[in-house]
Amino acid sequence: MKPAKTLALSMLALGLLVAEPALADSASLSVINWWTAGSEAKAMNVLVQMMKAEGVNIKNDAIAGGGGAQARTILKTRLMEGEIPGAAQIKGVEIQQWGKTGLLANVDAAAKAGDWDKNIPAEIDNYMKYRGNYVAAPMDLHRLNWLWYNRAVLAKAGITAPPQSWKELLADLAKVKAKGIIPMAGGGNGWMIATEFDPIALETGGPAWYREVFVKLDPQAINSPTMVKALERLRQIEAYTPKSLAGRTWNYDTGLVAHGQAAFQIMGDWANGQFEFLGVTPGGPKVGCVAFPGTAKEFIYNVDSFIFFRQHNPAQEAAVVKLAETMTSPKFQLLFNKYKGSIPDLMNVSLKGYNPCQQKSRVQFLEASKDQGLVPSFSQNMSTYGPTTGAFIDSLDQFYTSNESPQAAAAAMAKRVEVAKSQD
Ligand code: GAL
Repeated sequence: MKPAKTLALSMLALGLLVAEPALADSASLSVINWWTAGSEAKAMNVLVQMMKAEGVNIKNDAIAGGGGAQARTILKTRLMEGEIPGAAQIKGVEIQQWGKTGLLANVDAAAKAGDWDKNIPAEIDNYMKYRGNYVAAPMDLHRLNWLWYNRAVLAKAGITAPPQSWKELLADLAKVKAKGIIPMAGGGNGWMIATEFDPIALETGGPAWYREVFVKLDPQAINSPTMVKALERLRQIEAYTPKSLAGRTWNYDTGLVAHGQAAFQIMGDWANGQFEFLGVTPGGPKVGCVAFPGTAKEFIYNVDSFIFFRQHNPAQEAAVVKLAETMTSPKFQLLFNKYKGSIPDLMNVSLKGYNPCQQKSRVQFLEASKDQGLVPSFSQNMSTYGPTTGAFIDSLDQFYTSNESPQAAAAAMAKRVEVAKSQD
């Protein structure tokens, strides 16, 4: 497999290269994102409608590709052509890189109006600031470490309760296979493989090791017996995932589980939104959710946030601040997250009308925050960005789609990450 294509350009250089803005349609602001699944589009429509009510036209600029690699590339290309969007979906530590370009708008006024530093947990709020000023706003809080399952398929295979341990998961996968049903839906592309590996790594090494690897990028933790063990587990999952699902999207896989054509899917709770969209409520009679085995007390978090761009007239500047304010308002966050499958970033709003998996997500977030159990998702760009995230994803993709040994893959991963660090 070829390494993930990244636009090799430092953020600082990007700031200098950006062309003079073309005079855009001042009545409409483009909001770049990668939300093209049915549930995602429905959730985004909440933003479009609410902004319309505020007198601001939003263009929902959705660029296909789960994980957003394509969306990020297109964002840079557009900027170089002088096309300045209102906002773009950028997450985690990458927000700091964008801050360096000097292209971002200051939305302190929105943060003040919504009391972000009081209403949003510090783990999330801190990401939104560059050098003390707010330049981004969060819209949701996703949990990665979930296992989704179809109840009828499990019953058919003689499984009475969802797996709670790695051993049980493997036994259940074997039972489903024996019935001629797809045990695990997944493996569509590098990003999906990394997304599945995320909870496997946490389960294998625990939160402290997870941080050594994916936050501190410690070569010894990466090329370690724990990583080898985690990769062996990924190999075991791969063995229960049909090759024919390569190239399929995460939401296609969610459909397989929803319709009883597959037993399990390992995916963040954007799958929760998609199950709802398909008419099956997770936690209801057809589909269940359980914390990924061995990670019940932990919470791998993924926060979708948007950076805002400086505009060329006061009306648009004001519209951008309004956008930031709306994205973080209780009314918007309640409705948006209901469709998205996630929970609001605002911990003080009630989750009335949310499904049992979402209710559980908030409880687990609050418990994990007290217990050192919160970790930023590497696969969703929360702990690293660009070349470094790419180094992990490429290594996992290479391993998954070849006969590479776990030992060789762990060593190659450590090497790739070192190279990526030197490019930063
Ligand atoms: C993630 C994003 C989620 C979800 C997913 C699939 O990176 O954070 O909100 O939409 O991609 O598109």
